[in-house]
Order: sequence, then C-alpha cells, then structure tokens
Amino acid sequence: MKILFLGDIVGRSGRDALTQRLPALRAQLDLDLVVVNGENASHGFGLAPDMARAFLAAGTDVITLGNHAWDRREIIPFLEEEKRVIRPANFPPGTPGAGAVVVEVRGGRRALVMNVMGRLFMDPLDDPFRAVQAELQRHTLGRTIQAAILDVHAEASSEKQAFGHSFDGMLSLVIGTHTHVPTADHQILPGGTAYQTDAGMCGDYDSVIGMQKGGAALRFWKKMPGEKLAPAEGEATLCGLYLETDDATGLATRVAPLRQGGRLSQIVP
Ligand SMILES: [Fe+2]
Ligand SMILES: [Fe+2]
Repeated sequence: MKILFLGDIVGRSGRDALTQRLPALRAQLDLDLVVVNGENASHGFGLAPDMARAFLAAGTDVITLGNHAWDRREIIPFLEEEKRVIRPANFPPGTPGAGAVVVEVRGGRRALVMNVMGRLFMDPLDDPFRAVQAELQRHTLGRTIQAAILDVHAEASSEKQAFGHSFDGMLSLVIGTHTHVPTADHQILPGGTAYQTDAGMCGDYDSVIGMQKGGAALRFWKKMPGEKLAPAEGEATLCGLYLETDDATGLATRVAPLRQGGRLSQIVP
C-alpha cells in the first residue's frame, strides 16, 4: 500500500495547501491511503465540519484530531455521522466519536487508523498504550487488515519513541503529531514498523508553531494577556511521511519524508 500521512493542518494556509495540492499529490504518488491531522484547521483551534468535508473531498481518507478536538463544538455531533474523522482513543469511556476506524482502499484492502494522545506535559487522559493494545486485539495485521496507522498526538519525544518500540511489528506506522515541527528520525524499526517522532505541521513556517510570530513571541516576554493568537498566513509547507507497505505482512518496506511548498527545504518522494 502507498500511504501518505500529513501532520497538523494549521489555519487557512494549511487548509488551502491541502485542498489545492492533495489531488495532484495523490495522483503523482499513486496513493492508496491519505491520513491527515486536522486539530488546528479552524484558525488554529479545532476542526469545523465543512473543513472536514473539504479535506475528504480533496482525497483524504481519514482525519485524526488531538487536544484541540473539541474547540469547534459543531464537530461533536458530526463525529457520529462521519466515522472517517476520529479523536484520541484514550478519552474517557462515553466520549463522543471513536478513536479508530477501518477504511477500505483500492482493491478491497482494509486499513486501520488509530489516534491517541500522550500524557507527558499534556492533559491527563486514560492510558494510551493500553488503548492501542485493546484495539489491536480486534484485528490481525496482514490478515483482517492490510495496514495499521497510529497517530500519537503527544508533546514528549520519549513517549512517542516508547510507542514506536512497544508496537514495533504490530503496526505499519507509528507517527507523532502535535509539536508542529518535523523530526528527521523517520525510519523502519527492527520489527518492520515505520516510525517518525513528529510529522511536522502543514502550515506557514515563518511563525511560532503556525501562529503569527510577533504575538506568539510576546507571550514569552510579558506574562500578561496579549493580543489573540492568529495563524500565520504565508504559504504552507505540507509536511509528513510517505510509506510503502507489504499487504501480506502490513509492515513497511519504504519510508520517505515529504515537505512541499512554503519555506522548508523541499523533498517529495
Ligand atoms: Fe497541533
Ligand atoms: Fe495538539
């Protein structure tokens, strides 16, 4: 399977980059599955249903979320009707929506996509490791599903690496989101799971993690309420990871970073 994972879509700049460029990327890379993190799409905070629809129409198969999942409250009922938008699995039982979805791709193959949130330097939630372990008991990689993707929405690189090694050989990809900066440690772990600590955001990199740099920097100088943060509006770099997997095992055979458009150095598989 040919898979593209893109990190947090931030504001209009990120949304426009995704909807305008994904159709061509999908054709050019002959993609079977596209997963994007949408938690910052709405002015940096949350995801509105019309934005989710636009991402899906542009060729996204699954949208994951994170700590900003509920910032646009309209998403709450929408999660019940659109199962391709998932929120972290380790919210308390009874939380609207789901933390995992199985989608069918070309050739009748099935892909599991999961989303969890880390607990280091984040709001405390249920154990994300046990949440993934429980979900994996319902599927067999290489048999009932041909690929399994996990978005670990977390702050700490240590927690994300621990995830990669804990599930090495059980998932096609473990990839981090939330820090909005791409890491250069993309690799295939010894057991065959593709891994990258953070995919990086899809947004304007002349910014403080996607927000206008002046106001964002001032917050560190003055410990007082300042101007409201707003997303930077320059051209976005689409940031993420491309991978190829073997349908018979569900494990990764190739990983390559993608950084397209905007300020970051360009690399397209
Ligand atoms: Fe984010
Ligand atoms: Fe986040």
